[in-house]
Amino acid sequence: MPKLTYLGHSAFLIESAEGTVAVDPFLSGNPMAARTAEDIAPHTILLTHAHNDHVGDTVAIAKRTGAQVISTFELGEWLATQGVTNATNGNHGGTIAFTGGTAKLVPAWHTSSYFDGERFVAPGVPAGLIVRIDGKTIYFAGDTCLFGDMRLIGDEGLDVAVVPIGDRFTMGPADAVKAVGFLRPGLVIPCHYNTFPVIEQDGAAFAAAVAANTTARCNPLKPGASVDL
Ligand code: NI
Ligand code: MN
Repeated sequence: MPKLTYLGHSAFLIESAEGTVAVDPFLSGNPMAARTAEDIAPHTILLTHAHNDHVGDTVAIAKRTGAQVISTFELGEWLATQGVTNATNGNHGGTIAFTGGTAKLVPAWHTSSYFDGERFVAPGVPAGLIVRIDGKTIYFAGDTCLFGDMRLIGDEGLDVAVVPIGDRFTMGPADAVKAVGFLRPGLVIPCHYNTFPVIEQDGAAFAAAVAANTTARCNPLKPGASVDL
């Protein structure tokens, strides 16, 4: 069974018998980071979008480990210009295989740009990710607002839904509870909150709202904590 570890903000690690996957590995500069970029050696990196708090340490990790990096088209092309030799890109509706699993890119309502210290680059579009690994299906919503087509994503049969609850840049807790109703997962894990003051939220209160209003279980993982799926 795969093991899912929360690394803080929107960063996760999925470990299975066949390989290790990092999602949105923003570790350097992340005050909640449970690991350093040097601590992890994923075979695969999955990115939801180009924002710095998601791309994070991707280039450094991929250069060190040779990890395959999966993202939407323009971000993948930009990563290739930064020296990532195994950047694999697709677009909404497409499924891409990696060591031990697959990732389907689905829509997310957000923006996608990267500030390189001087200017914004790598626009393109953001995505959510439906990850199939070791018999489990995990949806990473990425940064998004609530949208009705989450019902279609729910039709994929989700064991786990990872949803942002921070508000301001993504949906907040009330909309995230509605999202869980559309997604119908077995387990909900909130993310993208409490990293910075402007996205402070109460994870326990969100878990109680999920329990009261949906059929899902909610586990507000602390950074560094894991669940066996
Ligand atoms: Ni973002
Ligand atoms: Mn973000």
